[in-house]
Amino acid sequence: MIILSIETSCDETGLTIFKAKGNQNKASFEILATTLSSQVKIHAQYGGVFPMMAKREHQKNLPILFKKTLKKAFPSSPAKGRTEEGSEDIEQKNPGIDLIVVTSGPGLEPALWTGIVFAKELALKYKIPLIPVNHMEGHILSVFAKNKGTFTIPLRRQGSGGQAKINFPILSLLVSGGHTELVLMRDWLKYEVIGQTLDDAAGEAFDKVARMMELPYPGGPEISRLAEEFRKNISSSPAKGRIEEGSDPLAFQALPLSRGRKIRILLPRPMMYSKNFDFSFSGLKTAVLYLIRDLKKENVNILKDEKIKAQIACEFENAVVETLVYKTKKAIEKYEAKTLIVAGGVSANKHLKKEMQKMLKDTNSKTKLLFPDKKLTGDNSVMIGVAGYLKYIKNKMKNIKLDSIKAEGNLKL
Ligand code: KG4
Ligand code: ZN
Repeated sequence: MIILSIETSCDETGLTIFKAKGNQNKASFEILATTLSSQVKIHAQYGGVFPMMAKREHQKNLPILFKKTLKKAFPSSPAKGRTEEGSEDIEQKNPGIDLIVVTSGPGLEPALWTGIVFAKELALKYKIPLIPVNHMEGHILSVFAKNKGTFTIPLRRQGSGGQAKINFPILSLLVSGGHTELVLMRDWLKYEVIGQTLDDAAGEAFDKVARMMELPYPGGPEISRLAEEFRKNISSSPAKGRIEEGSDPLAFQALPLSRGRKIRILLPRPMMYSKNFDFSFSGLKTAVLYLIRDLKKENVNILKDEKIKAQIACEFENAVVETLVYKTKKAIEKYEAKTLIVAGGVSANKHLKKEMQKMLKDTNSKTKLLFPDKKLTGDNSVMIGVAGYLKYIKNKMKNIKLDSIKAEGNLKL
């Protein structure tokens, strides 16, 4: 069957057309066309995403991207290229799409609505079903997808012979701009949130700390770049001095300040040792704020001192990553997870990936680690289509009434 998937939950407009086939044992996908339009540059001027501006951009982009995606997916469609007056546009007649999938939440409601309204109109016009998908479910399943070509997801629980299979339970660490959660899956499409952030999400903390340091939005890649730079410099001239047990030695270099005083860049690891799987990143963000203020009192303007900026970025990234890795390790042990998925925008972070790999190696863990393809770490419609099709073949959400599909900003897994 042919599927069209649509993603508009935040600041990326994405459309994908797949050919999909499958049964209870496996699902195979062939991407016929996929398009993604990022609004990052528009929102960057304001340091964050403005929901109403995101809505306007999605509304503008959706018809353009849809036409582009259709033309790519159905190059020999008869309507292609016909521009004479009174002629039909390619999107007027259904070129063969059997199912539409759309993100219904969580996310920014005005942005979500644009995708939903667009999808409903098409579903009505083409007389085909529409399946709503949870954006976080999409992120989890993104690790099984590719951005182009074909891919297959083995769905069977018992693999025989050399057949590929995914081992359960699966633990997913979802880290994005709006979410930080640990999700346990004992079966496909069954989710149990075992821990989550009590305040800021990890990506949000990256973005806010970046803003304090006057780095552009989105802050994650910027902080990460500075942190990597700092690590590289330091490893070529190793720090002498105190190294605290269990900590990253790179973060503990003392900064020489005026009047012969020194200050250590040391940030907290909030809730790291709490007895649950919840996270908190707002205290860490505030600690960076105070650090910058204290440095200012010492006449250190971090905005003008690239080295100190990079050192703060490094210690901040260490603090976030250490917390995420430690809690994930505890959750793997408790739930005996056989597969670990790390997904969402922050899964693009190289240090996070390296430290997750290291943790599994150091603990001799047999847990299989899955990260998404680099192109699928951020928001995209490929992951949404995959989630929708799995729902479809698992007999969930068939014949859903169009009227019942609505945007839910706080939709839970
Ligand atoms: O999943 P995503 O694209 O959108 C949401 O659903 O929120 O995640 C975006 C978040 C932003 O906060 C961004 O700063 C963060 O992912 N991010 C990163 C990196 N790349 C993107 N955070 C840390 N390191 C990165 N390399
Ligand atoms: Zn996302």
